[in-house]
Amino acid sequence: MKIGSLTISNRLTLAPMEEHTNFPFRLLMKQAGAGLVVTERIDAADVARRDRRAMRLLYTQPSESPRAAQISGADPDIMAAAAQVVAELGFNLVDLNFECPIRRLLARGEGGALMGSPERIGKIVDAVVRAVAIPVTIKIRSGPDADRETAVEVTRRAEESGVAAVSVHARSVQQAYVGGPDWSVLARVKQATCLPVIGGGGIREADDAVQMLAETGIDAVAIGRGCLGNPWIFRQARALLSGGGRVAPPNPTERGRLMLQLIEGEFHLYGQPLALRRLPRMSGYFAHMLPDAASFRDAVRQVKNLPQFRRTVRHYFG
Ligand SMILES: Cc1cc2nc3c(=O)[nH]c(=O)nc-3n(C[C@H](O)[C@H](O)[C@H](O)COP(=O)(O)O)c2cc1C
Repeated sequence: MKIGSLTISNRLTLAPMEEHTNFPFRLLMKQAGAGLVVTERIDAADVARRDRRAMRLLYTQPSESPRAAQISGADPDIMAAAAQVVAELGFNLVDLNFECPIRRLLARGEGGALMGSPERIGKIVDAVVRAVAIPVTIKIRSGPDADRETAVEVTRRAEESGVAAVSVHARSVQQAYVGGPDWSVLARVKQATCLPVIGGGGIREADDAVQMLAETGIDAVAIGRGCLGNPWIFRQARALLSGGGRVAPPNPTERGRLMLQLIEGEFHLYGQPLALRRLPRMSGYFAHMLPDAASFRDAVRQVKNLPQFRRTVRHYFG
């Protein structure tokens, strides 16, 4: 798949997830086989003024390339200024969020609130495309609610403004994350545009990715919750797509190794106090395949430092 001048090596991408898709997470998914990785949504105003937290979320290394950073906002000038920071930091793409259903954002007329205003989305895209040389992509939903599907209109307007690809989460903004996605919207968007279309929503196993691509004719899929504690979903889906057959999940030792890579990265990125606060949740995703997952989770709650966590991992994962 090509997004503007950028070549993406396969049809599997990481979906942006707040609190999750930081640098160590993205690197892990890239190593597991994701063709493109992306940061979580970051407020454009924070990026434009190089706020400390925003800059940490934008921490990147060439090893995770190609990588995108996602920004949100409603002011074209601020979005353009933030996109310039993203480009300067070395990201290969800037992704504009018009899908976030969080109430705080909707109240400010940002994120998913813009799915009702294709014209305003067009103006934001105009400004960002003019401001940066890297390709600009958008992430949208089917529409504001079940009765209003605006995805096709938004895509056409953004295409006129020079966007390089569109990523569609096949749920409405009102749905947030509840209820099944409706993949048929992905096919409608694909038929209406010449842009590469990335689809997401409801991919839990490798087979789901293959099915979404086959059913909708889109160019690539974005895997969200399906890769939490399960990075090998990318390898499994890649094998299926290239006709290589089924790849079994790794053994516990390998799962423990991958989890440890992520957690060590978190300690490095955040420092010990914050990494420890995040530890039960982040390691918990990898525990579900353990026979004694509850006991592992209890042990993790007692962990006070990284060496102690390493010992806990060795004990439970071998
Ligand atoms: C915890 C969580 C955080 C998310 N954060 C973002 C975000 O920052 N930006 C965004 O565009 N989408 C975000 N999403 C939506 C995902 O990118 C994806 O579109 C959605 O989860 C559908 O895919 P899934 O059903 O495979 O999880 C988030 C989803 C989850 C579950």
